[in-house]
Amino acid sequence: MRLNRGIRGRWLPVVLLVVLAGCSEETPIETGYQPVVDEHQMMNWILDPNADVIWGSAGTIHTLEGVEDLAPTTQEGWDAVRNAAATLAEMGNVLQIPGHSKGDDWNEFSQGLTRTAVLLIEAAENQDDQQVFDYGGQLYNVCVACHQIYMLPDSED
Ligand code: HEC
Repeated sequence: MRLNRGIRGRWLPVVLLVVLAGCSEETPIETGYQPVVDEHQMMNWILDPNADVIWGSAGTIHTLEGVEDLAPTTQEGWDAVRNAAATLAEMGNVLQIPGHSKGDDWNEFSQGLTRTAVLLIEAAENQDDQQVFDYGGQLYNVCVACHQIYMLPDSED
């Protein structure tokens, strides 16, 4: 009896170590990724401001003074559209890292974001205002598609 207990006492720490090692493989920190912003901040601090740069640089607005064309007229203006598109393209990758990803559907939407943003980079490089407008519309649809599934009605404030 006493001998038995002694053996078990010696093996228990080993068993625990093996179990703990198994667990730690699944924690995000082991991958080297370190999510910094939460979902709310990711949207309000990164996705929304960058999408606004694109949406604010295409199409026309009607004011009391007349019709204003929003397309950039300077190299800096086009660069700003390209830079915003590049940020969104890489954000599609960031959304999929451990700690941010919420599963397969989520990753699909995120990949759609990258695909559309890549088209926008090209459109901006070509200074093609019609394409920035068209892909800007496509971008909006990508945002809405994910929101329809993952944004709870009460999370918008
Ligand atoms: C992969 C999924 C996904 C994609 C793609 C996505 N969003 Fe979101 N978005 C969310 C989720 C989830 C929330 C709710 C987060 C929260 O506020 O708790 C949200 C909320 C928001 C909010 C509201 C934040 C608030 O204050 O409540 C804004 C604004 C927003 N997203 C902008 C965008 C824009 C712009 C795009 C496209 C360029 C986009 N999102 C693409 C998942 C996504």
